[in-house]
Amino acid sequence: MTRVLYLIACAAGPTQYVDDGVRAAQADGWDVCLILTPSAASWWEPRMQELVDLTGHPVRSRYKLPWEKDALPKADAMLVAPMSCTTLNKWGAGISDTLAIGLPSEGVHMGVPVVAMPYFNRAQGAQPAVARSIAALRGQGVLVLDGPDGYQMHPPKQGEPKAYPWTSALAGVRRLVGA
Ligand SMILES: Cc1cc2nc3c(=O)[nH]c(=O)nc-3n(C[C@H](O)[C@H](O)[C@H](O)COP(=O)(O)O)c2cc1C
Repeated sequence: MTRVLYLIACAAGPTQYVDDGVRAAQADGWDVCLILTPSAASWWEPRMQELVDLTGHPVRSRYKLPWEKDALPKADAMLVAPMSCTTLNKWGAGISDTLAIGLPSEGVHMGVPVVAMPYFNRAQGAQPAVARSIAALRGQGVLVLDGPDGYQMHPPKQGEPKAYPWTSALAGVRRLVGA
């Protein structure tokens, strides 16, 4: 049976092209379920149906209501990419006020392989909270791809969101799940 990957995307530049990430993961053999932060979902609102059609699943961006059933199959792995500076720091501080943080923050403590690859500039990354948050995630077993094997922070105003290295993120997932 095809394994399920939760691709969790924040409101960071490459999310404008998150369909590229979905296609790359599907080409890697994953059944992809897409989860967006509420801010990221607002970027895609006019074209959300395209993502539903591409993945074959509902695109989740909010916690379900107490009486609603799970809309997605169980995850075999989770990839948070692109991870924004805001989501990184909230997650690192233990704040899971979005479904996009709630799923991986609990998942990693339930044995689900979790990979996170950031996308933000060096000025954002210079905040002391960023290094603390990355260490907090690594300490919990999250594979954070913030160096040469993943995403290297760009100088302010020089990002290339369309060139986000989805293949590096997926290689990290492959490494972690032992595929
Ligand atoms: C057009 C636009 C592009 C942005 N790009 C980034 C980005 O690349 N990285 C980042 O960390 N934040 C970026 N931000 C700021 C985030 O969207 C903002 O911090 C937001 O609160 C993130 O919330 P989320 O992590 O829940 O998606 C951008 C904002 C806008 C409006």
